[in-house]
Amino acid sequence: MRAVRFDHYGDVDVLVVRHADDPVAAPGRVVVKVRAAAANPGDIYVREGLAEEAWALRARLSGKDSDLPKWSMDFPAAQGQDVAGEIVSVGDGIDAWQVGDEVLGWSEERVAQAEMAALPAGHLVRKPTRMSWEVAGSMCVAPMAGLAGAEAVAPRAGETVVVSGAAGAVGAVAAQLARRIGAEVIGLASEPNHAWLREHGITPVTYGDGQADRIRAAAGGRIDAFIDTFGEGYVDLAHELGVPAERVNTAVDFQAAIDGRARIAGTNDAGGAAALQRLVDLVAGGELEIPIAATYPLAEVRDAYRRLAGRHTHGRIVLIP
Ligand SMILES: NC(=O)c1ccc[n+]([C@@H]2O[C@H](COP(=O)([O-])OP(=O)(O)OC[C@H]3O[C@@H](n4cnc5c(N)ncnc54)[C@H](OP(=O)(O)O)[C@@H]3O)[C@@H](O)[C@H]2O)c1
Repeated sequence: MRAVRFDHYGDVDVLVVRHADDPVAAPGRVVVKVRAAAANPGDIYVREGLAEEAWALRARLSGKDSDLPKWSMDFPAAQGQDVAGEIVSVGDGIDAWQVGDEVLGWSEERVAQAEMAALPAGHLVRKPTRMSWEVAGSMCVAPMAGLAGAEAVAPRAGETVVVSGAAGAVGAVAAQLARRIGAEVIGLASEPNHAWLREHGITPVTYGDGQADRIRAAAGGRIDAFIDTFGEGYVDLAHELGVPAERVNTAVDFQAAIDGRARIAGTNDAGGAAALQRLVDLVAGGELEIPIAATYPLAEVRDAYRRLAGRHTHGRIVLIP
């Protein structure tokens, strides 16, 4: 098969697509023919060798470091967590899946960006027939972080919730979920994304200088919760807006969580395959949109990550083997 690999930490140019051994279905695992595998900012931190420190902070916070998927690599390294595809072989001990089943899920070992991937049977849910492959291959890392962030701040109907990065992959899900339960949601985003936010019942506010005043004006009263998906001072902004620490969640700012200024619920806190199934059901029912910013053939993996690194994509960037 062809697969994304890199032989040492570095910038996007270390990524190559080359031949690798086909994976085999060990007991408890299936092998899928990959149809779509989304890119995530976390892949960039891992590939640049910046993730080990963040992983150590997160392990300290969770107190369950041995359970967390490792963010450091043995080389040659593979890449990619989100995945969707068709099962081509099934390991011993699996009753739930058969060859030919269309599934979506995630790879903690980060092997998704390849023509084939071996995955634990428990990390998969069935792909709805009418869900596109690119959405199916985008359902895990960011949407589950959006779900965890929304649940961590527990918005109630009528409350006001602010989401930073509201049109990004994590923020778009967090904002829609908070809105869905009846909260008034203020979404921080650049102007090209305001129309999408409005269409989803979210009040757009442009970020940058003066944003605190613009948020207060849009809220017209108390701000109850804040979901940060960007970092870089948004936890401080939440406090400036009067939101108590227990109702601030950040997907990014581990130090703020260590300091007790925010919660840090993310993908691994969402609730695994059961949470993924809830998200899939919402998307299949037309109650949640997973925006797709762009798709790239696997061979153009470097271009996909250059675009993602710009930090202004609206939704998911997806590789198609
Ligand atoms: N803890 C976890 O489990 C977990 C899981 C997934 C992701 N994450 C992290 O969460 C972050 C977001 O991930 P993602 O996949 O949603 O990224 P993304 O899709 O690239 O979204 C980035 C967003 O940031 C916004 N943005 C850019 N510059 C900004 C600024 N100066 N102020 C405010 N917003 C700005 C962009 O908005 P505009 O386009 O409107 O400019 C865009 O919507 C990443 O750091 C990622 O590593 C954490």
